[in-house]
Amino acid sequence: MYNTGIMAVECYAPERAVTNDDLAKLVDTSDEWIYSRTGIKSRHVSTGENTSQMCIKVAERLLEKTGVKPEELDLIIVATITPDFATPSTACLVQGAIGADNAAAFDVSAACSGFIYSLSIADKFIKAGEYKKALVIGAETLSKYVDWQDRTTCVLFGDGAGGAIVEARERGGIIADVLHAKGSDGMKLTGCEKKVRNFLSSPEPDRHYFIMDGKAIFNFATKVIPQSINIITQKSGVSLDDVKYIVPHQANYRIIEFAARKLKLPIEKFYINIDRYGNTSAASIAIALGEMSNEGLLQRGDKVILTGFGAGLTWGSMLIEW
Ligand code: ACO
Repeated sequence: MYNTGIMAVECYAPERAVTNDDLAKLVDTSDEWIYSRTGIKSRHVSTGENTSQMCIKVAERLLEKTGVKPEELDLIIVATITPDFATPSTACLVQGAIGADNAAAFDVSAACSGFIYSLSIADKFIKAGEYKKALVIGAETLSKYVDWQDRTTCVLFGDGAGGAIVEARERGGIIADVLHAKGSDGMKLTGCEKKVRNFLSSPEPDRHYFIMDGKAIFNFATKVIPQSINIITQKSGVSLDDVKYIVPHQANYRIIEFAARKLKLPIEKFYINIDRYGNTSAASIAIALGEMSNEGLLQRGDKVILTGFGAGLTWGSMLIEW
């Protein structure tokens, strides 16, 4: 049986950066409030690019970096809650654009855990033996769901994409993962509800924007991150001392700080870039990995834990030997 190794990671964000001061001109907020409560300074916001276009940029960068030809890809998975369309899937749009004619393609909806869910799915396909190379992308245009008049949510989110090409390898790569969901708490964070349009009756308006119980999500996240990381270390037998980096979903600096304290780990072990991106949901871990790789932080043999949590509710962690 093969393992699933990471060949390369890459990332992309739209050029337009919106600072906290920019938002303070739209709603009653301040740089001081946003930064002290979340760790966010600015976020990238699309000025026309949709989710598939950002995915295609990541895919092209990955193909160039690895030298993999599009027709060598067996599978394309895009993790997103902000697809261009309900159908075709974002993954199919990417498949068509890059000419990956031999790849199966589908999207995964698991919000901020989406990139970990998707890597885990790709891992299972590769371990089953039939597929050798997969392109896995996490991408969001969350600005499509943001109510720019709601200060409790508009300060949190950003747009961007990141991804990986993974391949069948003899050893290393994805060593262990764990995925969870708690649908009974799903209504604590909703986005883009689509109402039923009954025949001949006037439709109820859609509730287009994110609606969130921020405190409940905060408490949930600080509880499940340490739990899920502890499961991974038990499952793999790898001690946290031997892990070089933990790459968490970037939702709030204080959530990461809480988790670090509970795990008795120095905050420096966590890669954090929320100050420049905000919360990019399924893209956040992938963007972080892309940046880390481009900064030379990830070396062959390094052990890295990814940990994500978010709407659904969903959460999960994964241990990778680079
Ligand atoms: N600027 C100024 N004041 C604000 C703002 C703002 N942007 N937002 C809220 N406030 C006010 C509130 O109205 C409230 O005022 P009040 O006391 O007069 O009612 C006060 O600030 C305190 O609000 P809280 O909600 O208690 O603030 P809290 O410290 O809990 O921080 C936050 C809010 C940042 C949203 C935090 O709860 C959080 O980060 N939660 C987690 C969210 C998250 O991680 N979501 C991830 C999932 S996203 C996904 O899956 C797509």
